[in-house]
Amino acid sequence: MAIRNIVKLGDNILRKVCRSQLQFDDRLHQTLDDMAETMYAAEGVGLAAPQVGILRRFCIVDVGDGLTELINPVLVSSSGEQIGQEGCLSIPDRYAEVKRPMNITVRAQDRFGKSFLIDASELKARAILHEMDHLDGVLYIDRV
Ligand code: CO
Repeated sequence: MAIRNIVKLGDNILRKVCRSQLQFDDRLHQTLDDMAETMYAAEGVGLAAPQVGILRRFCIVDVGDGLTELINPVLVSSSGEQIGQEGCLSIPDRYAEVKRPMNITVRAQDRFGKSFLIDASELKARAILHEMDHLDGVLYIDRV
């Protein structure tokens, strides 16, 4: 595993719409492993592929309940509302309050391409939606 460089605000990579991840191979697994190491080293709760310079639709989240890997995630449903502080590893030392749904259901694939549904609420829902935004070139500061 290796720590990757995190792309920072101002780099156009963060504003691109990512394309689907179609190959579930060793290269993807290596990238996901590196992203996890990078996220934990930076003490973040999520990291999206474009933040390490890869314009593909996958991200990882860990809000303290273990690592969740989401490949090609799609929001299936959402309900409720929450307002809370958000930061981003690509925007160091800045935080702001963002309104998000309280509960979400997301369909995604795992690192082997197997499809699954995940329900999340509160901080985990916030983290997943924040990372999914990255896949469309959207940053939390756009939602403040
Ligand atoms: Co972010």
